[in-house]
Amino acid sequence: MSSFWSWFISIIAVLSFIGCYLMIRWTSRRRAGEANEGEVTGHTWDEDLQELNNPLPAWWLWMFYITIVFGLVYMALYPALGRFEGIFNWSQKDQYEAEVAAAEARFAPIFAAYAKQPIPQLAGDAAAMRAGQRLFLNYCAQCHGSSATGAVGFPNLTDEDWLYGGTPEAIKTSILKGRQGMMPPMAAALGGDENVEDVAHYVLSLSGAPHDAAKAAAGKAKFGACAGCHGPDGKGSLAMGNPIMGAPNLTDGVWLHSNGPSLEAVMTAIREGRSGEMPAHEALLGEDKVHLLAAYVYSLSHNP
Ligand code: HEC
Ligand code: HEC
Repeated sequence: MSSFWSWFISIIAVLSFIGCYLMIRWTSRRRAGEANEGEVTGHTWDEDLQELNNPLPAWWLWMFYITIVFGLVYMALYPALGRFEGIFNWSQKDQYEAEVAAAEARFAPIFAAYAKQPIPQLAGDAAAMRAGQRLFLNYCAQCHGSSATGAVGFPNLTDEDWLYGGTPEAIKTSILKGRQGMMPPMAAALGGDENVEDVAHYVLSLSGAPHDAAKAAAGKAKFGACAGCHGPDGKGSLAMGNPIMGAPNLTDGVWLHSNGPSLEAVMTAIREGRSGEMPAHEALLGEDKVHLLAAYVYSLSHNP
């Protein structure tokens, strides 16, 4: 907070206290020309309803003064005056951090015990999987969906189809270190945009999706430009023993960047390239929680 705003807030807060005090004093003082205490002020309604000049009851008046004193004490103890931190030195951030530390101390041993078990065994532990699911809903569901079935651009984690591998170690590495899938625009490498459609029909033919057979046959000859990453048969980089590239299997009918087979989506992939990033979670969650999450993800496709 700049010192201008700090003073701005402090002065307004203090002035409003002084204002309240003066207003109470002013309204409880008798003014010249007023009716004496207990006498009619001159207001009469409905023929006989009269207003008498009676002071506020003392306890009522004192309540106003007490609220002012309460407010002043509160402002001294807690941060209310601009940058002044208050005598208690309390802050929302400190309170939050203390609560996080307390939760960490309580739950860390539970996660540490889970982390000692091998992932396939942990995946069969119902209590552990409930904890894993809660973590998943907190940290992963915004991208992979609350049932982990993914969305366009975000892989389904419940099927047997993996970009980077479905072994316990591969899943854990995906979560810990993150993954980057990167396909460059490929139209130029195919010898020009006129070949994009042919190759796209060939890609569709690989998984038996509807396609134009003549165009697919023409495209097949050009697929060599794609084979370095997707494999000569289009089965993906994982099938070639490369766990880092993340080039999808194009033959299995599972689509990452479209809902089902789509000529348009395949042509866009070839023309513009595709990329996807799985963020690293090691620093955010620590290894023990990631271990439990890996077991949860493993359990989704290996239902024990
Ligand atoms: C440099 C490696 C590389 C090359 C070369 C490459 N790709 Fe890809 N391709 C990838 C990667 C990696 C992805 C996944 C991108 C991601 O992570 O979202 C991908 C995604 C795709 C997709 C989307 C698949 C889906 O499930 O939605 C299609 C289609 C595709 N590539 C076709 C091709 C074709 C056709 C060629 C050749 C013209 C080609 N790729 C060349 C690496 C490559
Ligand atoms: C910001 C979005 C985002 C978040 C959050 C996220 N992921 Fe991912 N994740 C992705 C994307 C995108 C990919 C695919 C990367 C690619 O296209 O190459 C991916 C890939 C993966 C893979 C590899 C899948 C495969 O087929 O090999 C696993 C496993 C995974 N995520 C698990 C998780 C878990 C567990 C969490 C929670 C801790 C999580 N993800 C949080 C976006 C996200």
